[in-house]
Amino acid sequence: MRTLLIANWKMHYGPMKAGGWVRAFRRERLPKDLDIAVAVPHVSLAAARASLGRASIPALAAQDAFWSSEGAFTGEISPSMLLEFGVQYCLVGHSERRLLLGETDEMVARKAAALQVAGIIPVICVGETEANVKKGEVAKVLRAQVSAALASLKDGKTPFVFAYEPVWSIGSGKPCPPQKAKEAHEIIRTAIQKKFNSGVAENARIIYGGSVDANNIAEYVSTTGVNGALVGGASLDPRVFGLLCRTANPA
Ligand code: 13P
Repeated sequence: MRTLLIANWKMHYGPMKAGGWVRAFRRERLPKDLDIAVAVPHVSLAAARASLGRASIPALAAQDAFWSSEGAFTGEISPSMLLEFGVQYCLVGHSERRLLLGETDEMVARKAAALQVAGIIPVICVGETEANVKKGEVAKVLRAQVSAALASLKDGKTPFVFAYEPVWSIGSGKPCPPQKAKEAHEIIRTAIQKKFNSGVAENARIIYGGSVDANNIAEYVSTTGVNGALVGGASLDPRVFGLLCRTANPA
């Protein structure tokens, strides 16, 4: 399976800066056998697309989408609108949205399903909080988040990605030990197997996010069952993210 690396700018870089990042990143020497995407704020999609032109590397990703294709939903952006920019992936259920904006498993599930219908690959973010760890409920929380999302996916053939992002590790400089990430990925993969079958589970991409940088990326992508990474802070500088991509796949 090809490794997938997604840069998540979060709420950084409006249209004035997005094009510069894309142009600088495209000057980086990038491994060919990696899939690379950049998740930009909605308002920066046009600028990022303009700088990319027809180039497909990095693929364009969005950070959220609504579940309806159009209608009276003030402030929301639909999957079909994202398609107009050639968006190929879209994050859903990032913990920052779950925790700060009250996104529920049900909302995340509806978003993931709508993206699949539009032909955009949902990157469904799941992960436990520090409080969940203290209460010994990591597996329970993960299973609940994953099965809620899986219930909405129409089949196992339409692509989807899960991103395991332990909340305590995001932006904290405390990367999750790869062995722990491996266990979490196994929980997610088992849930996929139960919902679909072992073929779908084996081929499903599950990526890790949380304090990933150029120093630790190699450890993650060499861990069984970790199929890539979702990178926040270390993606803001295009040269640092370029180095991270080369380190992930030095071939
Ligand atoms: P950091 O890489 O900054 O820890 O952020 C991870 C993340 O939330 C990516 O979506």
